[in-house]
Amino acid sequence: MASDRIIAAIDIGTTKICVLVGRVTQGRPIQILGTGIMPANGLSKGVITDIEQASESIREAIRKAERPSGYTIRNAYVSVGGAHIGSQNCDGVAAIGRGDRPIIRDDLDRALENARAIPLSHNRQILHSIPREYTIDEQRNIKNPLGMIGYRLEVEAHVITGSRTAIQNIVRCVEDNNVQTAEIVLQPLASCEAVLTDDERRQGVALIDIGGGTTDLAIVFGGGFWETKVFPVGGNHISNDIGWALHVPFPAAEDAKVRYGHAVASEVPESDMLEMPVFGGEGHQRFSRRQLCQLVEERVTEMFEMVHKHVHDVGVADYLAAGIVLTGGCSDLSGIRTVAERVFGMPVRLGSPQSMAGRFESLTNPKFATAVGLLEWGRKKALAEPTVTPEGEAGPDGGFWWWLRSALNRLAP
Ligand SMILES: Nc1ncnc2c1ncn2[C@@H]1O[C@H](COP(=O)(O)OP(=O)(O)OP(=O)(O)O)[C@@H](O)[C@H]1O
Ligand SMILES: [Mg+2]
Repeated sequence: MASDRIIAAIDIGTTKICVLVGRVTQGRPIQILGTGIMPANGLSKGVITDIEQASESIREAIRKAERPSGYTIRNAYVSVGGAHIGSQNCDGVAAIGRGDRPIIRDDLDRALENARAIPLSHNRQILHSIPREYTIDEQRNIKNPLGMIGYRLEVEAHVITGSRTAIQNIVRCVEDNNVQTAEIVLQPLASCEAVLTDDERRQGVALIDIGGGTTDLAIVFGGGFWETKVFPVGGNHISNDIGWALHVPFPAAEDAKVRYGHAVASEVPESDMLEMPVFGGEGHQRFSRRQLCQLVEERVTEMFEMVHKHVHDVGVADYLAAGIVLTGGCSDLSGIRTVAERVFGMPVRLGSPQSMAGRFESLTNPKFATAVGLLEWGRKKALAEPTVTPEGEAGPDGGFWWWLRSALNRLAP
């Protein structure tokens, strides 16, 4: 397999579209060749609500990323979010026969197919089925069963589903721009790729990506995904609260939140004042900054309490030795880490994508976690090499890999 690939990522967020083009090479950091970041129109809470507007925003971001890269994007890894996402943990089994041959990829696929056999209503589809670990006969905790001998292969998998129409709308917006989707990837899964360390994944961590329209949760331990969830609340709700309570237009409330917001109101001096335009008034009106920050603190606390409750409800709170990693644009809010520590009572760190090769340093902002993570996700897929290819097995040249490789090859200069 070639060791050098050009791949593209399209993160479709509620507030911004971020398109990245990167060169991926075995053993080296991704080299960013082009970025296109445009405000997102036609989206609400992570879901497309106006196809034409969303398509147009995506088109502009694609063109912007293509220019400096010198490539035309024909194929991309694309993100999906929204509260329609559901997830569950499922087991699947495959009989290997008389235990006289090594396990091949087809056995893994059969076990996973069995795990995917869940009842689904007509408007839902499976987005991901991610193997977490395998059991061969009585032996548990096997990460890579290829080449091993056994009678019965069991897989534990995390299966993620989504609304068929919401996913089709994303595909359509991308295809309208002559770009095929290499894969649709759930946003928090991509963010995990960009910001989590291997130790955190092993020992247990909850990634919380707080964007403009959604708060995404992914719980990882033992190296595998255990829970994923998208809550339809994000930074826009904080700005909305400010707008409603103080009668300020949304853009001014948003600007004030970013410039003066603090999630711990008591840390802001009582004497600090700021000016904002108000509805029905002329010119600007003076407000206490602490009053603004109280609104911010209330909403941020409520958001974390909602996530905290869910983490407890699904019974994984005791498995998070590495605590919480916050990312997404909203994690840039001053004081947010303190509130998370208060609500969760565990270690919290802020997670940003690592700096990448190329000229685009600004991608280290946490709002780019999903886009950078999509490229990392794509890199793993594009450069994947099986560690074991038993005789007679198709290996990477079979089915999906052949399709993916030929699809990626269409990303031509
Ligand atoms: N310094 C900051 N302080 C407070 N909020 C910030 C700051 N920087 C960005 N934000 C907020 O982050 C949010 C945007 O984050 P992000 O770009 O991750 O969202 P998105 O990916 O477009 O949306 P989503 O993932 O929810 O669909 C906005 O609400 C914005 O106001
Ligand atoms: Mg996002």
